[in-house]
Amino acid sequence: GSVLEENSVGFCSVNGTIDNNYPGYTGSGFANTNNAAGNGVSWRVNFAGAGTQTFTFRYACIDSRPARLLINGVSVVASISFPATGSWSTWATVTVNAAVSAGVADVRLEATGSSGLANIDHLAV
Ligand code: GCU
Repeated sequence: GSVLEENSVGFCSVNGTIDNNYPGYTGSGFANTNNAAGNGVSWRVNFAGAGTQTFTFRYACIDSRPARLLINGVSVVASISFPATGSWSTWATVTVNAAVSAGVADVRLEATGSSGLANIDHLAV
């Protein structure tokens, strides 16, 4: 969802739209990126300390769509699989780990496949 929630962060920008036409999302909507590689969702996150950080993405998709994770424009996880959930209203999570520095960072999930990203509900850190 686009609303700030405990242990999650609000969308900062989306190469696409914020939609609400499928049930089961949290907050006020989910991010629907345009269907092309390079489109993504960015969040501004304030990390309390340096170290290994877990990133959990909640998503739904009828097919499998790969992505990468960038922090401050640097690719930190090159290949993340988002397996099909079966329908646009069936939500699942994918978790990855990456090293972070303390302080505010631009966290970006970016499509590496031609279909764009899965529909993204939220990021929990
Ligand atoms: C459909 C669906 C969208 C989805 C899109 C896609 O249009 O309604 O929610 O994002 O397919 O394939 O990316």
